[in-house]
Amino acid sequence: MNLFDVYPINPINIVKGVGSLVYDDKGTEYLDLYGGHAVISIGHTNPHYVKRLEDQLHQIGFYSNSIEIPLQKQLAEKLGKVSGKEDYQLFLCNSGAEANENALKLASFYNGKKKIIAFRKAFHGRTSLAVAATDNPKIVAPVNETDNVIFLPWCNEAALEQAFAENEISSVIIEGIQGVGGIQVATESFLQKIRSLCDEHNAVFIADSVQCGYGRTGKFYSHDFAGVDADIYSMAKGMGNGFPIGAISISPKIKPAYGMLGTTFGGNHLACAAALAVLEEIEQNNLMQNTAEVGGYLIEELKKFEQVKEVRGRGLMIGIELPEELAHVRKELLNKHHIFTGEAKPNVVRLLPALNLTKAHADQFLTAFAAVLKSASVTA
Ligand SMILES: Cc1ncc(COP(=O)(O)O)c(C=O)c1O
Repeated sequence: MNLFDVYPINPINIVKGVGSLVYDDKGTEYLDLYGGHAVISIGHTNPHYVKRLEDQLHQIGFYSNSIEIPLQKQLAEKLGKVSGKEDYQLFLCNSGAEANENALKLASFYNGKKKIIAFRKAFHGRTSLAVAATDNPKIVAPVNETDNVIFLPWCNEAALEQAFAENEISSVIIEGIQGVGGIQVATESFLQKIRSLCDEHNAVFIADSVQCGYGRTGKFYSHDFAGVDADIYSMAKGMGNGFPIGAISISPKIKPAYGMLGTTFGGNHLACAAALAVLEEIEQNNLMQNTAEVGGYLIEELKKFEQVKEVRGRGLMIGIELPEELAHVRKELLNKHHIFTGEAKPNVVRLLPALNLTKAHADQFLTAFAAVLKSASVTA
């Protein structure tokens, strides 16, 4: 049997990881500024995480949601505290797409309406509604097509007002910082406008925090920079440091009913142990502060490079936009300097490292980046 060939793959076999470093099967060391796509939040094989998962595995790994799982309550309490939304309610699932799917569905259950506002270049996942709200026709199958989603230009208040005036809006879904879309930061005034229009029209404000959340920007949710609360926050990626877990954090104004949402695997013992270990590390080691400091430092230093078109982002979610002729930089960082980074089109290098990235590792990247740009200007 062959693998279903849907991924362009780097010919590298990573067999070990420690903190922000990973090693291939030949023993080559790589600096991981990609975090396996924003997933590794507290570092590879973090000792506290490994121990908590190992201990839990010796107790029980899984039982279904038909019984009490006190770890879920502990996780809800801890998440409420660390995220600063203690009166919100937690529903656990397994991935980012599933979190958004549940959020969009829940919004429609709540207000009985159908229309969703999403934004150009948005990415919300690959399940039915999530992909319909994703602005990439290539990944929307005919069966996913719906006229319930209205795509608006990014951060355009007039277009938003007009859409609300002309439609019965159920929800607005927005990433606080677009990830796949190229690290585009939503303006605070736009997020505030969404809040006020949702209040006015009894629509639900969904903050997709799958990539930009969980402390990555220096605040728990990147939407927090606007000083307004969303009604539902979706999360996944960094939540389990690699263990598959997703969730939605739901405003107290939305009331639950039996059967409204459900899942087989969501909230299992092992997943909760992983998520608790991540939150404990974030809390005990002030990782959001580290993210703000090391990320802020990187952003300021990157802005000093003349060849860089623009540096965008917050904390450790950084986009470096390069001119067309420097499109090879990412490959060179990987092949010559053994540094993993992410990408977004066109020509954006994406940095999504663990939240405990050290300044020394940030400097290692800056030195390598300078060397790649220098050799590019010599070649030109
Ligand atoms: C903003 C955002 N939302 C949702 C998703 C989907 O998450 P998952 O791949 O866990 O389903 C992603 C994944 O990249 C994402 O970046």
